[in-house]
Amino acid sequence: MDRLQKICKAQIIAVLLAVFLAGRTNAQTAMANDASRNSTSLNGKWKVLSDPGAAGDWKKVWIEPKPQKKTDFFEYSFDGAPELNVPGDFNSQLCELAFYEGAVWYKKTVTLKKKNSRQFLYFGAVNYSADVYFNEEKLGSHEGGFTPFQFEITDKIKDGDNTIIVKADNRRLENGIPGLGYDWLNYGGITREVKIIETPKTYIEDYSIQLEKGSLGNVLGWIRLNGENLTQEIIVKIPELNIIYRTKTNSNGYAKLEFSSKFKLWSPQNPKRYHVIVECDTDSISDEIGFRSIESQGSEILLNKKTIFIKAINIHEENPMKKSRAFSLDDDRLLLNSAKELGCNLVRLAHYPHNEDMVEEAEKMGLMVWSELPIYQNIKFSDSLVPHKMRHMLQEMIARDKNRCAVVVWSLSNETYPGTPNRDKALIDLTKECKAIDSTRLVTHVINTQGYANNAFHVWDPLYNYSDLVALNEYIGWYIPWQGKPSEVKWKIDFSNKPVFISEFGAEALYGARNVPADQAAYWSEGYQEQVYKNQIEMFNTVPNLRGVCPWLLYDYRSLGRMHPVYQKGYNRKGLISENGEKKKAWHIINNYYKEDKK
Ligand code: GCU
Repeated sequence: MDRLQKICKAQIIAVLLAVFLAGRTNAQTAMANDASRNSTSLNGKWKVLSDPGAAGDWKKVWIEPKPQKKTDFFEYSFDGAPELNVPGDFNSQLCELAFYEGAVWYKKTVTLKKKNSRQFLYFGAVNYSADVYFNEEKLGSHEGGFTPFQFEITDKIKDGDNTIIVKADNRRLENGIPGLGYDWLNYGGITREVKIIETPKTYIEDYSIQLEKGSLGNVLGWIRLNGENLTQEIIVKIPELNIIYRTKTNSNGYAKLEFSSKFKLWSPQNPKRYHVIVECDTDSISDEIGFRSIESQGSEILLNKKTIFIKAINIHEENPMKKSRAFSLDDDRLLLNSAKELGCNLVRLAHYPHNEDMVEEAEKMGLMVWSELPIYQNIKFSDSLVPHKMRHMLQEMIARDKNRCAVVVWSLSNETYPGTPNRDKALIDLTKECKAIDSTRLVTHVINTQGYANNAFHVWDPLYNYSDLVALNEYIGWYIPWQGKPSEVKWKIDFSNKPVFISEFGAEALYGARNVPADQAAYWSEGYQEQVYKNQIEMFNTVPNLRGVCPWLLYDYRSLGRMHPVYQKGYNRKGLISENGEKKKAWHIINNYYKEDKK
């Protein structure tokens, strides 16, 4: 086959792939600032049919015929079905679903009226995939358990009762993101809010209003309208600063935004946000936006041009007391207040985008946010669909949170393995895509491929060439015994002059295990965990260019692979706090360390 034939073949494959993907995930990226829109909430009780036999599709359960003849019958019905709360994972609501991985069919009936506006059916998240039906017609599908999506239903609404049926399927996929194996509970279902959003016929679909990279006073952004009347006057107002910025969208509904001012900059010490109004002739929305600059310069991380040391903590999106996926403001505040109490200035929202309120609450509380894609460990990068899925999730994550100044890091992967086919290329391409979409934040990968031998670390990985941080996970003292004094560890970091961030470290302990040998790991003693933390802090003094640390993790959390019947019981016990809110000895080690001023 000559070169031209190869090019044609590649193009045909690309087109077929795009068509296939469009069929699979033809949900729209959710509009910006959904919270500011008029909407009808669909939260509350939904009827459900669990479908362990995967029969729902061929039975077409989204069509509910009624018996016409005396001999008619149908082997499914939502009438009489149990109900689940939405939002909320299904595993924690019905004991027969505790460890279920499969499809659950949800149904909601809502009374609506046709309106002279546009209507969108919006989902905050469905894990892992969703097929959505409206009045027995399939609207489309979405894949990815942690980002919002929507379908326009303007022309499908009828006066009176309308039915929405959703197939939520949390089965793990070999070419999923994440893939087949991960160290957290695979909570499935409609895990975040559902609502019908109303907009004008031509509405403000998306916008970006943040400081230009490296600037403390110049906003460089854009706005995009959606509808028929795309060429409009745009006004951006910030009343507190007497800003009234005018521009005009082009025939595609797009306009650049650029204006300057003397902003009170957002920071953990002063999480200042401004009321921002964005108007066009046909629409108007408001947002609370903070302005700050985050950049790396040589080995330093600069927030608003000042060096900072990041005092972080890892958080999973799980309410430890409810043993369920976190989704509510109360859930978020429980986790974030614990992070503040520990003395943190950043939360790493592991290992996937958390709910929208978690990010906004962190921003209000003065916590920087590390947002991460679930490109976790074993990913089948060589599968032709995977790079497209990664790109789609990246776009959805950035689309949702790009105006949240608290988000200072986009993390694109965690502990993937060099040598995995296509891993380097896929992740390097994704890094370039991320920086092309959003140049205002740090972009990184989290690696654990470093070597530790003869009490010396050798930190390397091709991905560090493309990352703004050298972010590494290490569990010396737990998974790997010390090979010498922590204070004498040597480092060979192949990427000189980049900020080093220890994104995970720690050990397990069962809260209350205090009257057992504290020098033996196999007792899960608090004393052993405490000593690991003391040794790690000693080692931190040996790390060149160390600019932040992030213990793994805040609370004990559910992970089925943690099977020890006495010490774990299905929990990863690396929390500084137990799932009952009890602080372990190690909590105090970090709390004291974070009280020190770090340069
Ligand atoms: C890894 C991984 C975490 C995991 C942790 C552990 O570093 O990133 O998701 O839970 O190690 O083993 O506890």
